[in-house]
Amino acid sequence: MRFTVAVDGPAAAGKGTISRALAERFGFAHLDTGLLYRAVGAKGGDPVAAARGLTPEDLRREDLRTLDAGQAASRVAAIPEVRAALIAFQRDFARRDGGAVLDGRDIGTVICPEAEVKLFVTARAEVRAHRRWLEVGGDEARVLAEIKERDARDMGRADAPLRPAGDAVVLDTSALAIDEAVAMAGALVEARLNARALPPGKTGL
Ligand code: C5P
Repeated sequence: MRFTVAVDGPAAAGKGTISRALAERFGFAHLDTGLLYRAVGAKGGDPVAAARGLTPEDLRREDLRTLDAGQAASRVAAIPEVRAALIAFQRDFARRDGGAVLDGRDIGTVICPEAEVKLFVTARAEVRAHRRWLEVGGDEARVLAEIKERDARDMGRADAPLRPAGDAVVLDTSALAIDEAVAMAGALVEARLNARALPPGKTGL
């Protein structure tokens, strides 16, 4: 069975938590595509060569989750040749047998426009900064500034800018507990899976 769930949205909106929960509940494979860009940024040197030569070991580096790694990722992610080098791997993952959840910025718009479920998970920048600060500590104002800078770069780039696909369901988690957001996302996936299991012409209602 091929079934792709695309989960896009800005940093610290809850994409990762929702994606991991969906993968666990439905037995799908999960790919955090931000890790690919973080690994390219962390390698240093020529980012295009780094993207073309990315290895599984590169994704296991321990320093990929820092604020600096996020900034480096968003800089290399604006380079079209870097994005192009990572497309085939992500598309193959999305269409693997058994179902897949991919989270990122351009999954529903560029990588997998035919995904069975598209979610755009978002929240106010202050709420996202507070969540990220609880994880990484330090100065909360700096975390907010970093998030706003990364949002602006990710939304403003010419190639695959961050935006919801026209047919994405927008999930604003500003005022939602994470388990509420997970439950809403799970209900959407379940409804789509059930609709696929019905014979043609039946609506399921
Ligand atoms: O999701 P995460 O914060 O790990 O992503 C790091 C950066 O990688 C993002 O700010 C964005 O610039 C880039 N990215 C992207 N496309 C994706 C996933 C991440 O451009 N599909």
